[in-house]
Amino acid sequence: MREVTATILENVRIAEDTWSLTFACGEEIPVRAGQFCMVGVNGFPLRRPIAVCKAEGERITVCYRLKGAGTRTLAETYRHGETLSVLLPLGNGFFVKEEERKIAVVGGGAGVFPLIAAIRRYAPEKEVFAYMGFRNRASVCMEYEMRRGNKLVLCTDDGSVGYKGSSVRAFMEDFGEIRPDVVLACGPLPMLRALKSAAAGRVPVYVSLEERMGCGVGACLVCVCEKTGGEHARVCKDGPVFEIGEVKL
Ligand SMILES: Cc1cc2nc3c(=O)[nH]c(=O)nc-3n(C[C@H](O)[C@H](O)[C@H](O)COP(=O)(O)OP(=O)(O)OC[C@H]3O[C@@H](n4cnc5c(N)ncnc54)[C@H](O)[C@@H]3O)c2cc1C
Ligand code: FES
Repeated sequence: MREVTATILENVRIAEDTWSLTFACGEEIPVRAGQFCMVGVNGFPLRRPIAVCKAEGERITVCYRLKGAGTRTLAETYRHGETLSVLLPLGNGFFVKEEERKIAVVGGGAGVFPLIAAIRRYAPEKEVFAYMGFRNRASVCMEYEMRRGNKLVLCTDDGSVGYKGSSVRAFMEDFGEIRPDVVLACGPLPMLRALKSAAAGRVPVYVSLEERMGCGVGACLVCVCEKTGGEHARVCKDGPVFEIGEVKL
């Protein structure tokens, strides 16, 4: 993990309420798909955790939804050439075994962004089937990146584009046909719970969790989640990716 003073190359709106931020770290930093960074925003003591979407040499791209004051300030005040303090790479990231050749990625909301990193990492080396959920047509973004795999099913709550309904439902309808060796997922808790009840036990499923974070490096315990055996884990350091049966959702 490093703390870098990153120079902003681009910070632009790419969909309703979604921005893409690309910054240069000044050196190449290896980042695994599913790892994240903590972005410092002026005026906020706590950095904001955001998944790395693309890592290309010293250039890192993250995509963020406008949520509260921190992400709004990031979108409204940071421009090309300005600097940001960023900690990265953080967390464990996704791990796919050599023998797992067919990967399904199932995402919803801001959970699609770490999964884009997984599609970029594994396609075309492996077969990748993506089921990505958005609110509506206006919130769809990064479609080009999501199409790098063998299949993309865009899902919207209102059916304004693609499949009408959740990405979990679309995935389960295809399950018998694609027969994935492993599933990587990220999204809101109800979506992950639905995935757990539908797919766990039939295929290994790894979920990336979102918890509020303080430090992002394992020191403050703000992000602790409960494991099914009763123990606790730090989402920032032991995760954010866990085997779905390992954690209470
Ligand atoms: C590992 C990880 C990866 C993430 N990746 C992305 C991503 O790629 N794109 C994206 O849009 N969002 C992502 N999030 C969620 C993002 O961190 C929050 O939306 C963001 O911190 C909200 O900050 P805010 O100041 O705008 O909102 P506020 O609600 O004002 O934030 C108040 C506090 O709560 C924390 N917080 C609020 N919502 C969340 C949340 N959902 N998860 C974690 N902390 C939260 C903030 O960091 C801040 O400390 C990720 C979260 C985690 C834990
Ligand atoms: S955020 Fe501090 S321990 Fe995880």
